[in-house]
Amino acid sequence: MSSESLSAAAIVLAAGMGTRMKSDLPKVLHPILGRPMVGHVVAGAAELGLSPVVVVVGPDMEPVKAAVSPHPTVEQTDRLGTAHAVLHARAPLEGVAQGTVLILYGDTPLITAETVRRMVQTREASGAGVVVLGFRPDEPGAYGRLVTDEQGLQAIVEAKEATADQLAIDLCNSGVMAVDGAALFGWLDQVDNANAKGEYYLTDIVALARADGRQCLVVEGDEEELIGVNSRVELAQAEYIAQQRKRTEAMVNGATLIDPETVYFSHDTVLGRDVTVGPFTVFGPGVSVADGVQIKGFCHFENCSIGADATVGPYARLRPGAVIHEDAHIGNFVEIKKATVERGAKVNHLTYIGDARVGEKANIGAGTITCNYDGFGKYHTDIGAGAFIGSNSSLVAPVSVGDGAIVGAGSVVTKDVAADALAVTRSPQKAVDGWAGRFRETKQAEKAAKGKV
Ligand code: UD1
Ligand code: CA
Repeated sequence: MSSESLSAAAIVLAAGMGTRMKSDLPKVLHPILGRPMVGHVVAGAAELGLSPVVVVVGPDMEPVKAAVSPHPTVEQTDRLGTAHAVLHARAPLEGVAQGTVLILYGDTPLITAETVRRMVQTREASGAGVVVLGFRPDEPGAYGRLVTDEQGLQAIVEAKEATADQLAIDLCNSGVMAVDGAALFGWLDQVDNANAKGEYYLTDIVALARADGRQCLVVEGDEEELIGVNSRVELAQAEYIAQQRKRTEAMVNGATLIDPETVYFSHDTVLGRDVTVGPFTVFGPGVSVADGVQIKGFCHFENCSIGADATVGPYARLRPGAVIHEDAHIGNFVEIKKATVERGAKVNHLTYIGDARVGEKANIGAGTITCNYDGFGKYHTDIGAGAFIGSNSSLVAPVSVGDGAIVGAGSVVTKDVAADALAVTRSPQKAVDGWAGRFRETKQAEKAAKGKV
């Protein structure tokens, strides 16, 4: 989003429960790119400088209020139509909204900043009463039709009330509008519900503005950004479009995605330049990756950071609180949680590191486990710089291994190890000369006696 701030307010309609989602969760809380749909709309509006952003919610929608906080919400108890919904925002906008009021929808999360900006700028440059975002869908179906004349937009006719000629119009109403804030509520007061659905139609304000001698205009947008989510199928379609945008953005900003369609992003993923991402990698929320990082395929990340020039994967899982410093190597089947792996350290194979620090250039052998949990509490493991942990060791926290210390392979470390010391806890090796040969001879003789050599 660009930095230039707009002086406009926004109303986001989000009162519908969304019965076709077949969900206990209000529709607008279903996530796209790991963030509730309504969160995209509200954050997008706020980033453009729209203020206030007032969200109209339905009854019993505390979780929606929490999701959009600190933006103000108003509750629409009976859903009597889109005009009725917008009227609920009158009190919070009274006195603060000058200029343009933008009307957006909590279930239309893909609208771009560029389009919103174009709507506000068109209204301000023209002084129009209402600017409507139109689009030309493949199937106009039940969408309201935009009836235009030489002065611009004359009226919006809902499909249920449209004549055959009007139904033939392919320019449709997305629902999104930029309205003169000084006139909006006056027009809404005049809207009645004498129509096919018995609802108060927001779309009626176009004809009312024209009757007031005000010009109304249409700005056209892409069908793709105006997709409304009413079902899980549409949710998946919206997710797909949003993922494609993030993939393109990552590549435009200098990351290589070897097979883009298999890489999944969150709304807040940050990738540096010259990052390479292998196939089948999932970025959960809160992940940042610095310049030059190599992510081999099949990795899963969440709330973690990866420092410059580190290599990660394939098949690595970085869980919340994993902080990987530069030049570190995290290899296959390694899980890291709430732990810092300092510069140049190597954790290359089959390892769990949780609640820990791995010091600079330490080497963690294959199969090392930090035993951080005793069924009740979590405990910390500290591994010093340059320490070497032999393969298949268990470090039973709380415990520390000093700088430069070596832990012998297969050890179970329960006491702190001093810097530069060797700790080995396995039992001493025994040797019995000739035992294996004798064992083989006995067994072969037994087999021969049973007739199967
Ligand atoms: C509306 C438009 C139609 C447009 C279409 C685009 C009107 C009268 N019609 O029709 O021209 O083509 O959107 O999708 O506006 N909502 C509330 N409270 C209400 C009613 C609706 O919050 O009382 C919210 C809904 O949750 C939904 C949005 O407003 O997100 C649109 O309402 P909906 O009933 O779906 O309008 P449509 O009939 O689709
Ligand atoms: Ca609708």
